[in-house]
Amino acid sequence: MVESATPAPKAAIAEGLRREFEVRFKSQPRIFRAPGRVNLIGEHTDYNDGWVMPAAIEFGTWAAVAPRSDGTLHIVSLNFNEERVVSPEGAERRGDWSDYVSGVAVMLRRAGLGTADANLVLWGDVPLGAGLSSSASVEISAGLALVAAGGQQLARTELARLCQRAENDFVGARCGIMDQFISSHGRAGHALLLDCRSLEYELIPLPADVAIVIANSMVKHELAAGEYNARRAECEEGVLILQRSLPGIRALRDVSLQQLEQHRGDLPPKIYRRCRYVVSENARVLEFARALKAGELRRAGELMAESHASLRDDYEVSCRELDLLVSFASEAGAIGSRMTGGGFGGCVVNLVAQADAERFQSELARNYEQATGMKPELYRTRAADGAHEVTARSEKNA
Ligand code: GLA
Repeated sequence: MVESATPAPKAAIAEGLRREFEVRFKSQPRIFRAPGRVNLIGEHTDYNDGWVMPAAIEFGTWAAVAPRSDGTLHIVSLNFNEERVVSPEGAERRGDWSDYVSGVAVMLRRAGLGTADANLVLWGDVPLGAGLSSSASVEISAGLALVAAGGQQLARTELARLCQRAENDFVGARCGIMDQFISSHGRAGHALLLDCRSLEYELIPLPADVAIVIANSMVKHELAAGEYNARRAECEEGVLILQRSLPGIRALRDVSLQQLEQHRGDLPPKIYRRCRYVVSENARVLEFARALKAGELRRAGELMAESHASLRDDYEVSCRELDLLVSFASEAGAIGSRMTGGGFGGCVVNLVAQADAERFQSELARNYEQATGMKPELYRTRAADGAHEVTARSEKNA
């Protein structure tokens, strides 16, 4: 039996949230929703000014909002069954779920946007701690809701930037822009190729006969925060050293593989390997986009395999369970398979022929359970739309 979690029906969720809001706050909310994401290729490249290619997934966070009139922000998480009263002037980090919302309220206030005089109720079905960006989906849905409750509008890219700032400066995680950007800009049936320097992007259609199957190793990526910041620092060190001979570069995005090889001798071996991963991954993302557009799925799959191998050996952010999933996925006939997200646990993303997906899932789950004693959760998803207001109309189309 395959553990296959499917997102709950969206219309039922919005209706349940609306009722819950009305009972608690005796007013009618507007409802917004923002998805989590899966990254197809381009890992740890966003903070190196490089390219990424994620897709929004069918799991997300819903935010119900209505104005108050006493100058306080009441935030309720139905997942945690907790309520916080926050004043964005004096908001402090608490080290829990509410930081992602308070952080957004603080950044909105600094930008002179949104309102902090509101009731906000959140519920989400993005698996937590699985590397599928539940936090970005909370930030973006809360951000959209608070801007709307303030009677304003905000361009998607600005919203993504502001939510990234909330995570960097308030929550204290030095993440790049990828997660917030795809949560706000995703498009059903498409992956998004993003240049993380210029923030220019291109939506690339995914073939209808290819399924995205996400396999959760069930290993929580707890190590991730410290190691993530360490990798960032190592990339920065690489840039500083390379700048001595390549003064024109600003980030690893500006370095070619050839240049890196030329200056290999200047870099400590570990820093060289980190740089080799990032520089080669940037090239892979662009090649992957080309292959996908040309319908060369085999080539796309090879690039995913190379990406995983370099994440494992050069960047050292994989773990035994992720490596096992990738190798079982390849044995079970995946078109492509690699770890996705920050690493050290979390999920593997697989591209699989739609017609073969059931068999693939059973085989992958069986082999993984036999090898590790853990049942992986499998999520089969389509590329979904980015953040939007939930109305009777959008629910009908969902
Ligand atoms: C996390 C961060 C992203 C990105 C990925 C790795 O998800 O939030 O900005 O760096 O890790 O690709």
